[in-house]
Amino acid sequence: MKKLMQEHRKRFGDFEVIEFVDDREIAKLRARTDVAAPLTLSWTWEYGSEVEELRNLYEKGKVNQWNAERDLDWAAPVSNDEWVMNPEASMLAQLCKLAGKDEATQKAAAFDELAHLLSQLLHGEQAALQICGQLTNACETMDEKWYAASQVTDEARHIEALSKFLSRKLGTIYPINPTLKVLLDELLQADTARKKTLGMQTLFEGVAVGIFDLLRSESRNALLTDMIRRVEQDESRHAAFGVLTMRRVVREADAAEKAEMEDWAFGILEALNANQQLDMLQLLGPKYGLDPEVITKLTLQMPNWAELNSLVYMHTVLPNLRNLGLVTERTADQYRSLGMLYEKNRATHASGLSLIG
Ligand SMILES: [Fe+2]
Ligand SMILES: [Fe+2]
Repeated sequence: MKKLMQEHRKRFGDFEVIEFVDDREIAKLRARTDVAAPLTLSWTWEYGSEVEELRNLYEKGKVNQWNAERDLDWAAPVSNDEWVMNPEASMLAQLCKLAGKDEATQKAAAFDELAHLLSQLLHGEQAALQICGQLTNACETMDEKWYAASQVTDEARHIEALSKFLSRKLGTIYPINPTLKVLLDELLQADTARKKTLGMQTLFEGVAVGIFDLLRSESRNALLTDMIRRVEQDESRHAAFGVLTMRRVVREADAAEKAEMEDWAFGILEALNANQQLDMLQLLGPKYGLDPEVITKLTLQMPNWAELNSLVYMHTVLPNLRNLGLVTERTADQYRSLGMLYEKNRATHASGLSLIG
């Protein structure tokens, strides 16, 4: 199986990282805003409901709409004089502390790291909007079309909320990480409705829910907490759609198609994990006197690295893939050796499942 971004791979001890170091190449990647995405649209003449569970999810979505401008308290203060999140959850703040920098610098570092992370989530939300538009065309039943269309509205609202929070409260929207840009393009260019659903609804939604949930539990700012809580409510519906649709897709797939899905999912998650925090450290590290490669090598040697590293993956995306039968023994060992699948955190929190049925 050919790995993604082969030309950017480098060994740090036993671990293979993906690293972008050429600024011109990164700028070119970000400037590539035209992406040709193959799409076959599907008409249907059946206007009655065929998939009852999806119709229920669509109804739930209608009841739970919210208004990003009106329902969030935009007057609430957010300042880098305060801890915006638990200092222990900020890698940069911890590193500044270890380097003996004062508390004001540690707080500023946590603030920057949050702005960087929310910016990446914002770019991910834009990808979700685009691919959900594609799914509205590609899916076959009217229930799926209604549902996907309602998700398009949700994703637009997430872009609205995150971009307003970043520009009004944090003052910066950081550019997209090069690794993330390559992976989002890979998802957006998926050639079948099956892969589009797996990629966006199961993989990226699953990863995003994991990150949002960890971020919310570490937030020390009321506006941030409330915004994430509202976004997560929508995201758990999206994850439920992904699980429902994928269950059917996997049931109908033959062994070869299943293996192809398993490999594709593995390839994307492996590449996401291979960057570690290098893209972030390359952007923000120099400001705080931190060397990205040195930090990453030290991080990879920490005795509890796998346990911490796996938190995001074990939160939702790997349990969901496992339930779908898309993590078999063939890939399980690899996920394990990459510090993504970690048995001790067996928190079978398959997000979205509670909304089904
Ligand atoms: Fe979203
Ligand atoms: Fe979503």
